[in-house]
Amino acid sequence: MSKWLDNAVFYEIYPQSFNDTNADGIGDFQGIIEKLDYIKELGCNAIWINPCFLSPFGDAGYDVADYCRVAPRYGTNEDLKRVFEEAHKRDMHVLLDLVPGHTSVEHPWFKESMKADRNEFTDRYVWTNNVWEAPEGMGSLRGISERDGACAINFFSNQPALNYGFYQPDPEKPWQQSFDDEGPQATLAAMEDVMRFWLNMGCDGFRVDMAGSLVKNDQEGKGTIRLWQQVRKFLDAEFPDAAMVSEWGEPDKSLQGGFHMDFLLHFGPSHYNDLFRCDEPFFSKRGKGDISEFVETYKTNYNKTAQKGLICIPSGNHDMDRLARRLQGDELKIAFAFLLSMPGAPFIYYGDEIGMRYVEGLKSVEGGYNRTGSRSPMQWDDSTNAGFSSAPASDLYITMDPGKDRPTAKAQMADPDSLYHEVKKLIQIRQSSKALLSRGTIEFVYAEKNQYPLAYVREAEGEKVLVIINPSDKEQSFPYSAELKDALYTIGGKAESKDGTITIPAQSAGFYHI
Ligand code: NOJ
Repeated sequence: MSKWLDNAVFYEIYPQSFNDTNADGIGDFQGIIEKLDYIKELGCNAIWINPCFLSPFGDAGYDVADYCRVAPRYGTNEDLKRVFEEAHKRDMHVLLDLVPGHTSVEHPWFKESMKADRNEFTDRYVWTNNVWEAPEGMGSLRGISERDGACAINFFSNQPALNYGFYQPDPEKPWQQSFDDEGPQATLAAMEDVMRFWLNMGCDGFRVDMAGSLVKNDQEGKGTIRLWQQVRKFLDAEFPDAAMVSEWGEPDKSLQGGFHMDFLLHFGPSHYNDLFRCDEPFFSKRGKGDISEFVETYKTNYNKTAQKGLICIPSGNHDMDRLARRLQGDELKIAFAFLLSMPGAPFIYYGDEIGMRYVEGLKSVEGGYNRTGSRSPMQWDDSTNAGFSSAPASDLYITMDPGKDRPTAKAQMADPDSLYHEVKKLIQIRQSSKALLSRGTIEFVYAEKNQYPLAYVREAEGEKVLVIINPSDKEQSFPYSAELKDALYTIGGKAESKDGTITIPAQSAGFYHI
C-alpha cells in the first residue's frame, strides 16, 4: 500500500458541478486546477474525480463510450494530465473513477457486440443465445440488435453488462461463460489496458464503480475476489504504487481481492445510514438514534480485515442525500469530529465542508433522479451563480441552491466559527496525531443500544486518544476509568472523568490523550 495513504484525506469532485471556467454552465478540468489550492488549504491531500470520459451521459458519465478519451465538455486528455501534474506539484494525489462493470450502449465494443456475425467483441458482454431468453435475476436489453439474444444490464437499461463470466456457469445455459474463458479474460485484459493508459499518464489510482458486481451469480463474491486478485498481480507487477478503493461495501471481500480501501455505503449491510441518513440519525441532537448496530458491523469488518487495508467512511457522495439534509449547525460539526477521527481514509464530498444543502424539488439531470439535489453547483462566493460559472443561470448544468442564505466557501473562510474552519481544524489535528491517522487502531469503549455518547480509543506508537462524541442535547455519562490528560480537540465543552465515570456536556465532542 502506498505510503501516502497513511495520512490521506480525500475530497470527492463531481466535475460537472465544481467550477466552470469557460462559461458553458458545466465544470471543467481547468476549474479543478484553479481550486486545488482551496482543497489543499482545507487540508485534503487527495481527490477522487467522478467519471470524466466520453459518454452520452445517461448516468452522469457512469455510462462510458470511450474509456481512454475524456468528455470534451471537461477539456482534453492533455488538460486532465495537467490536473495530475498540478496536483502532484502540491503533493496531492488523484484517483479517477473506473467503471468496469458496464459501458454505455454507444460504446464501439457494444455496437460490434450487437452484430450477428461473430467478431472480437461478440463475448465482451453478457448475452443469452436467443432474444426470448432473458438472463435470470438481471434486467436485459432485447430487440435492439441484429444479433439474436438478450444482453444483461448492470444498472440502468442503457448500461449493458460487460462479460467477466459466471461463478458457476449453468451447464443448461451454454451462453454462461466461466471467468477463465477467452471472452471474460479478454474483457479483463481490456480493462487493464484502460488502467495502464491512465496510470501511465500520471493518475494515482482508481475508485472502482460497483467493484463487487463483475462476476455474475456470485453470491459470496468468490469469483469476483479471484478476478480482483488477478488485477492485483498486474498492478503489483506494473504499478505497485497505484491506490485502489472499491465501491463494494464489504471490506472483508474487497481487501481479499487486493483493494487497499473500501467504502461504507448507504446500501448493503453497513448500517452507515443509521449515522446521518434515517428518520432518527445518531448525529441528530434529538438523541433518539442508535449507533450500536453500526458499531457491531464495523467491528466485525475491522476484525475480519485485520488491518490489511482501510475502511473508508464518506461524509456523503453523489448518490446519497447531502449530509446537511438531516443535520444542521453543531450537529454537522460533531459529525465531522467523528468522520475525521475514525480509522481508514476519510472522504469529503465537495461542498459538505461548508454544509451545502440538498436542493429539493429538482428535475432529474442526466440520470440523477433523487440524487440530483446532492449534485448542485459548488457555492464559492456571493458573485453570479455563487462563483461557479458566469453562464446565464438558465444554462447551468443543475440549478443552484436558490436560498438567499446558502452557504459559500468565501463567507465561511472569513468566519472563524464556521463549519469550514471546524473541518479544517479537525483535519489538522488528525494529521498531527499518529493515533488518529488511518492506521491507528480502534477500540470501542462505549456504543450501547439507544444510548449516548459514543466513545472509542485510537492508538498508535504509544499515543492513545480517547474520542467521545455526544451529538444529543443532553449531558451524558458512561463508565470508564481514565485520566483525561490534554485535550487535542473539544467542541461544546470538556468531558470530566471522576470515580470511574466520564461525563460529557450536551452537544459536544472531544479527543483526549489518556
Ligand atoms: C455507482 C455510482 O456511484 C452511481 O452514480 C452510478 O449510477 C452506478 N454505480 C452505476 O454505475
